[in-house]
Amino acid sequence: MKNKNYIKVMQNILHLLDEGVHVLDKDGNSIIYNDAMSNLEKMDTKDVLNKPFAEIFKNLDAKDSTLLQALYNNKSTINKSQTYLNKDGKKIATINTTVPIVDNGEIIAAVEVAKDITEMQEMSNKILELRKEIEQPNEVKELKIKKYRFNNLIGKSPNFRAVINIAKKAAKSSASVFIYGETGTGKELIAQSIHFDGVRQNKPFLAQNCAALPETLLEGILFGTAKGGFTGAVDRAGLFEQANGGTLLLDEINSMPYELQGKLLRVLQEDYIRRVGGSKDIPIDVRIIATVNEKAETLIKQGKLRSDLYYRLKIIAIDVPPLRERKEDILILADQFIDKHNQRYNKNVWMLSDKAKEKLMSYNYPGNVRELENIIMAAISMTDDENVLTDKQILIDDSNNAVKIDYGFSEIGVDKYLENLEKEIIKNTLITYQYNITKSAEYLKIKRQTLQHKMKKYNLTQATDNKS
Ligand SMILES: Nc1ncnc2c1ncn2[C@@H]1O[C@H](COP(=O)(O)OP(=O)(O)OP(=O)(O)O)[C@@H](O)[C@H]1O
Ligand SMILES: [Mg+2]
Repeated sequence: MKNKNYIKVMQNILHLLDEGVHVLDKDGNSIIYNDAMSNLEKMDTKDVLNKPFAEIFKNLDAKDSTLLQALYNNKSTINKSQTYLNKDGKKIATINTTVPIVDNGEIIAAVEVAKDITEMQEMSNKILELRKEIEQPNEVKELKIKKYRFNNLIGKSPNFRAVINIAKKAAKSSASVFIYGETGTGKELIAQSIHFDGVRQNKPFLAQNCAALPETLLEGILFGTAKGGFTGAVDRAGLFEQANGGTLLLDEINSMPYELQGKLLRVLQEDYIRRVGGSKDIPIDVRIIATVNEKAETLIKQGKLRSDLYYRLKIIAIDVPPLRERKEDILILADQFIDKHNQRYNKNVWMLSDKAKEKLMSYNYPGNVRELENIIMAAISMTDDENVLTDKQILIDDSNNAVKIDYGFSEIGVDKYLENLEKEIIKNTLITYQYNITKSAEYLKIKRQTLQHKMKKYNLTQATDNKS
């Protein structure tokens, strides 16, 4: 392509972008100034293009200009928040990235990309306002959020009861809690129970999913904003202040940007926060419960979770087992969900057929308890007036039902790995057939004696009920 055509193509692309783009050549002349930038800055393209930057922005000191800093001092500015009033007096919030373009060791241009986050900013303020209303409802409005407590948590399997025991101890203190568990295992329910059955039950419980918001918003939402600060420009308390005395649940904390994780760590160590753009230190007393749905060690290795923050948070560490590792709970939970959705859909289902039970027991539930609940809910909603749910009504996508076991093969070697695998298969079969040796041996296609021998070897005896 001819150079001239190439430039034409580039210019057209630039005008399609939502982000503002402003480029200076090595002499400081504006060579690209797209429509989005023109809209943002309320400047006419013709007043900017092909003119020296210093002449257009006469009042701007070179050291305050990110573009000139990039061009003359090789300085990059990444994701910097800026707030300013445009020509019409409207407050505009942007996030700018400015970089020098270097060729053969020589700076040949400087590029600035600006994203208008005014709307997001307004949204962030709205979120904080709404939360405040939820937390401090006026007398007329009733608080409609369901609060979970320990007696809402169903499960008798020893590994689940062990988790509940740790959580109950956690409820008696204010120490930070770090919960790991796959999606749908009940992390939120456990976090709420720790709060609403705990020493802080009369104070606020707030939750924020760290994956749901971009970095600049998240920071403002957590720590609040101060008037004149470059992001918020209004005085507003963040979640830390709103949750003062209570509990703040930070879901998917590994999605919090690394730098912000560092700020959070400092806050936890120093017990005060500073609003974004503010200068006052505000003392806070907030219990943090953080959750992740991948193993912390993996997240640390991948650089998604700061190890220093992790060690500060896991004063109480809770690992919630996936449903496939507590099969004893499947039918108990299923019964509970039958009751719940009977009421909801006004149905009259009493029980599951034996085949339906077997079908539920032999699935591995990648979506854990939430998935089981959805399966039961779907089944109930489809019944007419029958009282027994059959396997036909239990709709399970078996395609992802492969045995999924992660024992860290590379660490333990193949012999141990196979042993673990065999133990897991036998254990699950026994639970499925309620420890009926004949049926289990038949299913596994081994002799009864062989099964009994292996049960002894792996110490697989029927678990006795553990009272909660
Ligand atoms: N032990 C339990 N007893 C009763 N219901 C449960 C239990 N565990 C989970 N549930 C049900 O499963 C749903 C999902 O639980 P929860 O929201 O706590 O999962 P989570 O671990 O936070 O998942 P995610 O990682 O996707 O946020 C809940 O709404 C609840 O209905
Ligand atoms: Mg959750």
